Amino acid sequence: MAEKKRIAVLPGDGIGPEIVDESVKVIKETGKQFGYDFECSFGMVGGGAIERLKNPLPEETLTLCRNSDAVLLGAVGGPRWDSNPPHLRPEKALLGLRQELGLFANLRPATLFPGLEKSSSLKPEVLEGVDLLVVRELTGGIYFGEKYTEETGEGARATDTLVYYEHEIERIVRRAFRLAKGRRRRITSVDKANVLESSRLWRRVVDRVSKDFPEVRVQHMLVDNCAMQIISRPADFDVIVTENMFGDILSDEAAMLTGSIGMLPSASLGKGPLGLYEPVHGSAPDLAGQGVANPIAAILSSAMMFRHSFHDEEAARAIESAVKKVLSSGARTTDIALAGSLALSTEEFGDRVCEALRRYG
Ligand code: NAI
Ligand code: MG
Repeated sequence: MAEKKRIAVLPGDGIGPEIVDESVKVIKETGKQFGYDFECSFGMVGGGAIERLKNPLPEETLTLCRNSDAVLLGAVGGPRWDSNPPHLRPEKALLGLRQELGLFANLRPATLFPGLEKSSSLKPEVLEGVDLLVVRELTGGIYFGEKYTEETGEGARATDTLVYYEHEIERIVRRAFRLAKGRRRRITSVDKANVLESSRLWRRVVDRVSKDFPEVRVQHMLVDNCAMQIISRPADFDVIVTENMFGDILSDEAAMLTGSIGMLPSASLGKGPLGLYEPVHGSAPDLAGQGVANPIAAILSSAMMFRHSFHDEEAARAIESAVKKVLSSGARTTDIALAGSLALSTEEFGDRVCEALRRYG
């Protein structure tokens, strides 16, 4: 009997629908190989939802997500909505989904695929062996703290607040330790403990939790130093765990190691099995409608879905190795194309990955 799974598919704006199509194709092919019966239901989110329903995150979309085993998201946003008021901005849907679904852990792996060192701006010898995972806290910290602007005698004054509860730190740190246990067993906890009180609490929690994971080697690193180390000796990192804003910035920096933003998947997880899977990149309005976007980030996000929501490591690896095989054959999309060679379209690349999967089975 095939295992039934419900997936909420939210294509979003710009290149979102194009890359999500390829990801769904790969999910269905993987389902055939590994015995799943997928029910994919489509929902509206972002700019498209603003146009139709005047709401970037309609209640029916949230309900669809809550009733699913996993959520696949494309990307939201575009110039058309840039001057909208805050409640009618596409990105509001992203914060809303994370908060409403309790997705506090954002996993962003950066892996270098064979042959892609040439697409990165760093030297190939620096990149050799890069395989790191940024675990970013996603529902706390300065993005969610109290914020306001007031008029004072010295002019306008703006305040943002950085707050963390011990329990918020503990749950993300524990998740990172568990992930490190299944990898190379090294954690770098990144903070700014020389100046920030919340970072000092962060460090204490990491030290306490680390006692439960004696097999994992822990290192504390200040965020400014980490920003340098990520590009000077990236292969030395395994798991990096950090708070919301530091994680946002460091994971974008780490993205540049892999050759293109079109290569980077992500997972956002909470307490239960429900997870949200999306490429790290945005809606790339400059490429939308041309069929040239790189679908790899979206496809690798579906591999993460098998790994983290369906606990099927074998299926996840099958997708990852299919992508690797297609890349090894020299196939490329425009953003990672080799000089002088022909690039595949978004759809052609997705087809190649499905073919490689069929040969795997
Ligand atoms: P972006 O990631 O959309 O694009 C940055 C650059 O990377 C562009 O040159 C684009 O062509 C290229 N690129 C992105 N994805 C690609 C892919 N799959 N294949 C090939 N090239 C790719 O970021 P940008 O330009 O800052 O933002 C565009 C819109 O996306 C904005 O409205 C922004 O708010 C939104 N956005 C949405 C995100 C999300 O939904 N999670 C995340 C980041 C931005
Ligand atoms: Mg970012």
